[in-house]
Amino acid sequence: MTGILESLRQDHVNMAVISSLAFHELAKIEAGQTAELDLLEDIMCYVTGFPDTHHHPTEDILFERLKLRVPEATDDVDTILFEHQRMIASGTRFLDLIRAAKKDVVIVRNDIVLTGRASFTLLERHISIEERQLFPLAQHKLTVEDWVQLGERIEQRPDSLFDVPLDNYYRRLRNRIEAYRFEHYDELCRASRLSSSILALRC
Ligand SMILES: [Fe+2]
Repeated sequence: MTGILESLRQDHVNMAVISSLAFHELAKIEAGQTAELDLLEDIMCYVTGFPDTHHHPTEDILFERLKLRVPEATDDVDTILFEHQRMIASGTRFLDLIRAAKKDVVIVRNDIVLTGRASFTLLERHISIEERQLFPLAQHKLTVEDWVQLGERIEQRPDSLFDVPLDNYYRRLRNRIEAYRFEHYDELCRASRLSSSILALRC
């Protein structure tokens, strides 16, 4: 049990840091500073990569099992499952907008800010519901046999940004994240309110 949930919670910690960095960059754009489109593109390549192709599909498997064990939670689970699809669409839309801006397509700065904020607001709210409602429910209601079977179905895969050597594709983003952690410790502490697992940030 703990392996799957711990891994998902660690993903949330990582996503909370990414989200905080994204909000910070969007605030800079809103304030009239030059948009760091390469950084935003790296962020969204990651978000539409590992979380959308591994984290959310893993939760889909877990939550489908939860519906079997707790039928009364079906509506809440279905809402979260639907949001996984919404987040994929929202993240892709934001990434497309960033890439269009990089190609000198005329994009209103405010569109980047609004689209980005909508995407990360959805992500943060979603994580919060999973952490506060669905993960504890799964922890208490799924049986040992459920967790064994889930473990057989769910592939544990290293996070493409946080669990691999620094010389990979995301080295530039990793360096920015480390600098951001150092410079914005207080903001990350505020982000800790997002979920109980974010306490792993050690604020
Ligand atoms: Fe999640």
